Amino acid sequence: MNTNTPTAVVRKARLSDVPDMLPILDEYARQAEILPRTAADVYQTIREWVVAEADGRIVAMGSLLVLWEDLAEIRSLVIAPEFQGRGIGRQIVEQLVAEARQLGLPRVFALTRKPGFFLKLGFHLTRIEDLPRKVQKDCVFCPKFHACDEVAVVLPLTGPEETVRQAAAASANGRVNGRREA
Ligand SMILES: CC(C)(COP(=O)(O)OP(=O)(O)OC[C@H]1O[C@@H](n2cnc3c(N)ncnc32)[C@H](O)[C@@H]1OP(=O)(O)O)[C@@H](O)C(=O)NCCC(=O)NCCS
Repeated sequence: MNTNTPTAVVRKARLSDVPDMLPILDEYARQAEILPRTAADVYQTIREWVVAEADGRIVAMGSLLVLWEDLAEIRSLVIAPEFQGRGIGRQIVEQLVAEARQLGLPRVFALTRKPGFFLKLGFHLTRIEDLPRKVQKDCVFCPKFHACDEVAVVLPLTGPEETVRQAAAASANGRVNGRREA
């Protein structure tokens, strides 16, 4: 991490952010880390996006797509390379999860090639077949449907598992913050 890199602020996206967002999204789509997102797509879904701003420009983003009454997907989570490893990915996911909670969603999921990151945030592995709305909406149209190279991770937001997870996260945060602030 470059210690001269400016601090980032995580907030809801605005329409004026989109020209900054597109080149980062395009680059990660080119690397096949995320699905391509067009300008029209981002403008039309602007309410779904959370961004991180640093030094007057957008350096990271992610979105929350509600699929059904009981399911939402974290998509297009990307952090500009020079801003990775600074906790911005975690902050964006936490804000998207907070929005999911406010909406009353019982769980959120992601499809990813970076499951280790999501596991750190309390998600656990699941099978894509256990997310039938996602399979019906997108996967059946995907050319990689029968050879999917992404891993499904899910975070329950209600029930006993969530209570245990929150307690573990609170305990881990105390330890991690203590270490970071030292
Ligand atoms: C994966 C990505 C979103 C992580 O964001 P980030 O801001 O670099 O991650 P953070 O700094 O918030 O990391 C949070 C925690 O996850 C861990 N982590 C980050 N990336 C990880 C990875 N690839 N594997 C395992 N753990 C990871 C960090 O070490 C940190 O752990 P700690 O709290 O114990 O120190 C970011 O690296 C990225 O944009 N990658 C390229 C695009 C991509 O692959 N997007 C994912 C699409 S689903």
